Amino acid sequence: MMSFFQKAKALDSDDVLAGYRNEFYHAQDQMIYLDGNSLGRLPAATALWMQDVIKNQWGRDLIQSWNNHWFHLPQRLAARLAPLIGAQPDEVFIGDSTSVNFYKLAFAALKSQVGKTTIVTDNLNFPSDYYVLQGLISESFPQHSLKLMESKDGIMMDNETLIKSMDEHTALLTLSLVTFKSAFMYDMAQVNALAQKFDVPVLWDLSHAAGAVPLHLNRDKAHFAVGCTYKYLNGGPGAPAFLYVSKAMQQKLTNPIWGWMGHRQPFEFDFNYRKASNSAGFAVGTPNILSLAAIEPGLLLMEKAGIDRLYAKSRALSVFFQEMIKQKLEPLGFRFASPAHPDQRGSHISLQHPEGFRISKALIQPQKGVKAIIPDFRPPDNIRFGLAPLYNSFVDLCECVQRLEAIVLNKEYEAFDAEKDAVT
Ligand SMILES: Cc1ncc(COP(=O)(O)O)c(C=O)c1O
Repeated sequence: MMSFFQKAKALDSDDVLAGYRNEFYHAQDQMIYLDGNSLGRLPAATALWMQDVIKNQWGRDLIQSWNNHWFHLPQRLAARLAPLIGAQPDEVFIGDSTSVNFYKLAFAALKSQVGKTTIVTDNLNFPSDYYVLQGLISESFPQHSLKLMESKDGIMMDNETLIKSMDEHTALLTLSLVTFKSAFMYDMAQVNALAQKFDVPVLWDLSHAAGAVPLHLNRDKAHFAVGCTYKYLNGGPGAPAFLYVSKAMQQKLTNPIWGWMGHRQPFEFDFNYRKASNSAGFAVGTPNILSLAAIEPGLLLMEKAGIDRLYAKSRALSVFFQEMIKQKLEPLGFRFASPAHPDQRGSHISLQHPEGFRISKALIQPQKGVKAIIPDFRPPDNIRFGLAPLYNSFVDLCECVQRLEAIVLNKEYEAFDAEKDAVT
């Protein structure tokens, strides 16, 4: 019988996407990066492109670059991102952060749902989304209340709970398509159709889905979505986020933050706000050109690799990882904390262990001569492993499992304390 390493080598040599690993900057060989679900790697082309943007566009051409390169950059990027999420270019805006875009759309959606006062989400969602909703209720919608659907196992949401969560008072349903801890993935078409029966708009957070799984926002009748570009899209730390509003909804909704870049003609310096048509109306202020420019090479790589091939590899990686976890790690006290079926998960895997935090520290700071392995940690005990098909290999996953075995069997984690850095 083939060992996992032999299998991994065979899978890597058949991998049609293997060459993309070299499209990224690798500072050290002695490191396996499994955190592309938090911060994607730096595409080598981005490093070169940014030198041009900084030295030539900014340094040499200064203000002229607004007309030559920058003013239409958000739209150009939106046009590149749109096919990846199954949307039209003029339904997408790129800029601001995910949380700010979430605020704009949640506010606008609530305003449009006159007389309805319940906001539904689940307890698997990302805290920033709750905070924005809590803030909206506190500051702008005092009649509204937040209803949390409870996951029965902390990993997935069942259909029955979802169906029961909505009624004629529901103003908004908002969910992460792929949840941040367990990677549980909703069936977008099914949820949208269900919400439609109650005339409830759905606001999707696609942060853990964009660039990881195929998305068909138009086909699946999505009205609203937001997401980030710094994870699987490799746009860089704090890269601007995206927002999607379907054509049908664009006429009905207004951006609650009226800034000059959302005006139809910002350089008319008109004193009356006239909202730009389509998704451009969701812009606010001057675009963050340097961060926006850094997104483009990553999107080009995605385009070239193709989301269907990326998703096929992501599934193959995660199924292979799952098999090894079952055989090698579950007997050592690890719990698979993502959905068991690959159809129901995105592109990361969570493993729970009572010593999860110290184990993750031991992975990141190994003893001499051993490769560092970078996952991340989400309390109370989840180690998250991001599987980024553009640069992760099957052998990476074998090495990761081998390290986890050694750390637990040799109690290497005991050398670490439980003190947390600011970012885990
Ligand atoms: C699912 C999800 N939503 C929202 C956010 C917040 O994004 P931002 O910091 O761009 O506002 C994150 C950040 O990681 C996230 O994972």
